[in-house]
Amino acid sequence: MGYLPFVLLWGLPQVWGSSEASSGPFPFRCLQISSFANISWTRTDSLGWLGELQVYTWRNDSDTIDFLKPWSRGTLSDEMCKQLQHIFQGYRRSFTRDIREFLKMLGTDYPAEVQMSAGCEVLSENSSESFLHSAAQGEGILSFQGTSWVSAPEAPPWVQKVLAVLNEDQGTKETVQWLLYDVCPRFVRGILETGKLELEKQVKPEAWLSSGPAPGPGRLLLVCHVSGFYPKPVWVMWMRGEREQPGTQRGDILPNADGTWYLRVTLDVAAGEASGLSCRVKHSSLGGRDIILSWGHGHVSITLAVLTFILVLGGGFAFAFWFKKRRIYQSIL
Ligand SMILES: *[C@@H]1O[C@H](CO)[C@@H](O)[C@H](O)[C@H]1NC(C)=O
Ligand SMILES: *[C@@H]1O[C@H](CO)[C@@H](O)[C@H](O)[C@H]1NC(C)=O
Ligand SMILES: *[C@@H]1O[C@H](CO)[C@@H](O)[C@H](O)[C@H]1NC(C)=O
Repeated sequence: MGYLPFVLLWGLPQVWGSSEASSGPFPFRCLQISSFANISWTRTDSLGWLGELQVYTWRNDSDTIDFLKPWSRGTLSDEMCKQLQHIFQGYRRSFTRDIREFLKMLGTDYPAEVQMSAGCEVLSENSSESFLHSAAQGEGILSFQGTSWVSAPEAPPWVQKVLAVLNEDQGTKETVQWLLYDVCPRFVRGILETGKLELEKQVKPEAWLSSGPAPGPGRLLLVCHVSGFYPKPVWVMWMRGEREQPGTQRGDILPNADGTWYLRVTLDVAAGEASGLSCRVKHSSLGGRDIILSWGHGHVSITLAVLTFILVLGGGFAFAFWFKKRRIYQSIL
């Protein structure tokens, strides 16, 4: 599992980050992770996403790509599917061999981690954008642009040697162009159709408030839980009236077991300032009717009631103890 840190550092921010920021809702991205532990040990695993949904996986142990959704094949004919599978199998074999060659040529030590991120996004009926980037040891090194391989802006000097070799291979460049600029957009248009129902699914969130462990004396941690929503993009903020509270802390969006998402958003406030605050949730499934939950008297009085109870109880014990002791002393006297 040595490659995981690199996926987290390099791969996922690209995958998740841009899928949330991009204009089109369903960019198609494949991520390939290849680890070369030493001269004899290697594995290559690949994953494919449409927007935030994982639709493919291709593990090193398997000869064939796993389609994770019944609609993952899109509108590809069986013949085309076979042809692509064949191309990718050949690619995986030669990739492993070529990287070993490059490592030898460059005199680089093992272990090596190589990642590829490739895909496309359909922007309109006639336009799409495709990309293919590669990283080594977690840093971007090169990409495919138009008709050739080019270096990433901050790439180390040795990348030039790799580019010279890659750019000499006309056949591979033509195949990459065909896959990126012709097959990919066509394929994505198809899969957007076959997966429409699931891709455009909308599930409304539920939200509730609670208090977390007190961050300090006289302070409260207000927690707003938002759960069960789909798709993933969501906006949650602690507010006072219409004013967003800048201290709002957003957790990571976590998966629920049923494919929906969960998010926890907190605010650390002085106990006296909690009332009048509310948690506001915006989500595409709500059709503009935001969820607003107020940190009302309910929460305050429950907290106060518990505190009072503890104080009274504690006081009662202390008094009983003192009273008992006193009686003991009295009886001694
Ligand atoms: C290569 O790496 C693998 C995995 O880390 C290890 O199990 C194996 O013993 C190594 N082989 C050599 C020849 O160093
Ligand atoms: C990955 O797959 C290749 C090709 O099938 C195989 O030679 C290699 O041993 C596999 N690696 C691991 C770690 O299973
Ligand atoms: C897309 O291309 C076709 C054929 O070239 C053209 O008829 C159509 O108007 C174009 N659509 C858009 C939205 O540009």
